[in-house]
Amino acid sequence: MIGWQRDAKGESLDKSFWEDQRSVSKLYQARCRAALRRHFFNFSDTLLDAGAGALQHAEYESLYLTFKKIFLLDLSYVAMQRINASNQRFRLVGSVDAIPLRAASIDCILSVNVINHVPSQNQELAIRDMLRVLRPGGRLVVVTYNPHRVNLSKILKKFRIRRGKNLPSTSDRNLGKLRNESLYWSAVTPEWWKKFEEDGILSFYPYRFLFITDLENLIPDNLLGRAALEILYFLQLIFRKAGVRWGAYYTVVIDRREI
Ligand SMILES: C[S@@+](CC[C@H](N)C(=O)[O-])C[C@H]1O[C@@H](n2cnc3c(N)ncnc32)[C@H](O)[C@@H]1O
Repeated sequence: MIGWQRDAKGESLDKSFWEDQRSVSKLYQARCRAALRRHFFNFSDTLLDAGAGALQHAEYESLYLTFKKIFLLDLSYVAMQRINASNQRFRLVGSVDAIPLRAASIDCILSVNVINHVPSQNQELAIRDMLRVLRPGGRLVVVTYNPHRVNLSKILKKFRIRRGKNLPSTSDRNLGKLRNESLYWSAVTPEWWKKFEEDGILSFYPYRFLFITDLENLIPDNLLGRAALEILYFLQLIFRKAGVRWGAYYTVVIDRREI
């Protein structure tokens, strides 16, 4: 099981398994994370990061800055130990389907790439518990993998194979195998969220169009690759619906109804 151990370069294993570490992709991945800030502009009181991990991304830090009080929750004790506590930050070890916080006590919740690691029979319970701790008028922001994403590298590879060529691949086969085996992988579709329409107003946004294997297989680590990712990023802003439907990750925002 991959946890919050570090690799030889000092990066968390989670990061080196699930993010493309080449500089061309680092910028793109960081930009997608930083864009989450736009969902929090009108909030500044309490934030819960549900499944915060070991706070491996600097972009979350800048998002936290605007809040007075931050609760960081994770199932992993090791992850929580890695984080420095402060007067404004409270570390909680626990599960997203039984959050150790009072009802309606939180302004905003952020949960990035967590719900797809919760066993499917507990996923609805987890979202219901997040909505329980959220105050009326509060906002839940969830980022998750899209099981209906278009698998670009697979499509292109097939196309090339027919012409007798193979796409060059920077992905390590063993790494791919480990990625499949090591975590729960029960991703929910955008349609799945309809069951929460009575609890709040739902909106969907593209988060990141390309999955790690697409980045590794299709995007060269040079200026051309950088330009392609710039264009792709702006296309996902313009074609929001297509980005949600076909992209690798999407964001769902639930604004909890006032009672
Ligand atoms: C892919 S990591 C994402 C971490 C962080 N949100 C980020 O974006 O870097 C998934 C995290 O979810 C946590 N997790 C998985 N199931 C959980 C649960 N039921 N309750 C709380 N945390 C959970 C894992 O321990 C892990 O830290």
